[in-house]
Amino acid sequence: MRITFILNGDDVSVDASPDRRLVDILRNEFHLTGTRAGCLGGRCGACTIIFNRSIVPACLVPVFYAQGSEIVTIEGFMQTDEYKDIQKGFREAAVENCGFCTGAKALVTESLLERKKLPGAEEIIAAFDSIKCRCTEARSLADAVLAAAGIRTRRLYGRTD
Ligand code: FES
Ligand code: FES
Repeated sequence: MRITFILNGDDVSVDASPDRRLVDILRNEFHLTGTRAGCLGGRCGACTIIFNRSIVPACLVPVFYAQGSEIVTIEGFMQTDEYKDIQKGFREAAVENCGFCTGAKALVTESLLERKKLPGAEEIIAAFDSIKCRCTEARSLADAVLAAAGIRTRRLYGRTD
């Protein structure tokens, strides 16, 4: 089956068996290996992508479902100013990151900040529920996201104080 979609801003298509996992297609056909293949069961969050503006685990999405969709992976997102805001915010809050979860944490943060400029701590912690990282305290994640939100606001609108 030929499946056509938008991937990191480009129109792409792929010939694939419709039930293949999207995470495999991204990694093996498009070489986007920043989307990690972890538990392959929707539990770890390593394969997180932005799919039609929502966070989803790409291991649970059969590729036929991508037809006509818009997908952003960490490779595409890293090209944006929004990514740089998040990177600075996480650095400021000294949040732990590793090769396994860094991309997923950035995409979850982006999805949240796109919906809400200044989310509350509980909303932030709930948003990160889908990523199983035991190395980072929930409070540090909230600090990092709020730092990123502040950096973004200053970049877009200048000083707010
Ligand atoms: S690999 Fe998809 S959630 Fe773990
Ligand atoms: S899983 Fe990456 S820092 Fe915890």
